[in-house]
Amino acid sequence: MCRIRFLIVAVLIACTGQVMADTLKIAVIGAGKVGGTLGTLWVKAGHEVMFSSRHPEQLQTLVDAAGPKARAGSVSDAAAWGDVIVLSVPYGAMPVLSEQLKGKLEGKVVFSTSNPFSGRDGEVGQKALDQGVALADQHYLPGVHLVRAFNVIGAASMKSQSGAGKAIATFADDAQARDMGARLVRDAGFVPVLLPLSRANEGLPGGPASGVLSEAQMRQKLGL
Ligand SMILES: NC(=O)c1ccc[n+]([C@@H]2O[C@H](COP(=O)([O-])OP(=O)(O)OC[C@H]3O[C@@H](n4cnc5c(N)ncnc54)[C@H](OP(=O)(O)O)[C@@H]3O)[C@@H](O)[C@H]2O)c1
Repeated sequence: MCRIRFLIVAVLIACTGQVMADTLKIAVIGAGKVGGTLGTLWVKAGHEVMFSSRHPEQLQTLVDAAGPKARAGSVSDAAAWGDVIVLSVPYGAMPVLSEQLKGKLEGKVVFSTSNPFSGRDGEVGQKALDQGVALADQHYLPGVHLVRAFNVIGAASMKSQSGAGKAIATFADDAQARDMGARLVRDAGFVPVLLPLSRANEGLPGGPASGVLSEAQMRQKLGL
């Protein structure tokens, strides 16, 4: 009898441990159209999500809509809390965020949907386009495990196409970033197509990965 009880407890602990490991704490810095949509999809997938921006007090409606596993916090709260940091801001915010987040994200995976545009983001945007967006990200956020994804699918399609088997170009170099990036893409309801960071500019608007594509279409367009 005692033995059976022990076995049941052991199984329960093992199961609980597994559930903990399967549930990520995802900090979303920039909770607008993209951050709000992806964060909500991840809550629906069972993860805990903290939405943050310069005005976290304005994020309550989003938190309520996303569900009980969502919360809001400051950028610093989010950086400290998240197992993984999702960055979804206009690229012009990168210099300020670089200062604000200095030393706080080292060793963490940063998953960026943020795109540089010279029109919207001025010199910061143009420099990132010229330098290569992944190098620019790493300049602003040294020491992170970088993955870039969801850069060229509209926020509305992220919501409407989730679960429809569509592909997302997912750029990363190291295994930690690649595995986490692929997992977040899958848990949002899409199929990751993995590429190195050296190709990240191909994942920018107007590039070959643009639009809502099947995996086969994406692979063909990217010559994979
Ligand atoms: N919209 C799309 O369909 C789409 C698709 C793919 C990729 N993208 C790219 O993804 C990024 C986000 O796009 P979006 O359309 O979601 O933009 P958005 O709706 O304008 O949202 C931007 C978010 O960033 C926050 N933010 C701005 N500056 C910040 C700062 N310094 N610190 C912290 N939070 C800051 C804003 O909140 P506060 O102003 O309150 O701080 C807001 O929550 C952009 O780089 C965009 O080019 C967009």
